[in-house]
Amino acid sequence: MSSPPREPSADRQERKPITLLKLAEKRALGEPIVMVTAYDHPSALLVEDASVDVVLVGDSAANNVLGYRDTVPITMDELLMLARAVRRGLTTPLMVGDLPFGSYEVSDEQAVRTALRFVKEAGCDAVKLEGGGATSVARARAIVAAGIPVMGHVGLTPQTATALGGYRAQGRNAQAAARVAREALALQEAGCFSLVFEAIPSQVAEEIMRRIEIPVIGIGAGPATDGQVLVFHDLLGIREGLGARFVKRYANIQDEMAAGVAAFAEDVRTGRYPEAQHGYAIDAGELQAFRQHLA
Ligand code: KIV
Repeated sequence: MSSPPREPSADRQERKPITLLKLAEKRALGEPIVMVTAYDHPSALLVEDASVDVVLVGDSAANNVLGYRDTVPITMDELLMLARAVRRGLTTPLMVGDLPFGSYEVSDEQAVRTALRFVKEAGCDAVKLEGGGATSVARARAIVAAGIPVMGHVGLTPQTATALGGYRAQGRNAQAAARVAREALALQEAGCFSLVFEAIPSQVAEEIMRRIEIPVIGIGAGPATDGQVLVFHDLLGIREGLGARFVKRYANIQDEMAAGVAAFAEDVRTGRYPEAQHGYAIDAGELQAFRQHLA
């Protein structure tokens, strides 16, 4: 038996929802955009309370909460369940659903159908897709034409990491940097409202930023982008190891959790838990009657 989830705080009810227009305004004003991933209701409440601008229900849930080795196996049904939980905790940030690998590449129709599921079944405001090649650009265009805002994602795109030669920074020579630029511009031209630049040299991001007019959120792309995104579990240290070079740890929750569970186990084994205050009482007469009933 545990308590029901709490209601949004009064402060939260007063904040205005983040719209696409608001993100464009932030870019124009040079106000940094804050984006974080969330995969469940408690994390949604936390990022809401921190007033983040954009929440991504990322396919990185695959390795961060579902125990897959990478983002490739996660399915739309798995992501939808997580996205619904996140939706129940959010009031103001723009909520973006991450189209999983295999859910949009086959045809424009498949891409639109999948994007519609995020909007209709989980209440997402927008979707994100990876890659800036001809297929991804066509899918972005089709989803935008169906009325769903699309965030693009170039540079290191984990869904196709094998084709990119592994989890490594992209755009590190002139030709590769030109490719990242070309893809970013093509996604912008296809109607994306925003882009993610992942793991590209800071100077390359800076050069591309001069030619981009929509808000760009960076992760391992240096300070020139309009905002920054980190994975919830990375920034809070809810995982083993340090992760990628661009991760900055703001807490070490994994250690706290491990210590908490170990202390509970120790208390149970040594009889220190439960104590009297953790139990319920019954009236002495009722207990007597109960004993007679059992006799
Ligand atoms: O799924 C994810 O977490 C992402 C971010 C790294 C942008 O795509």
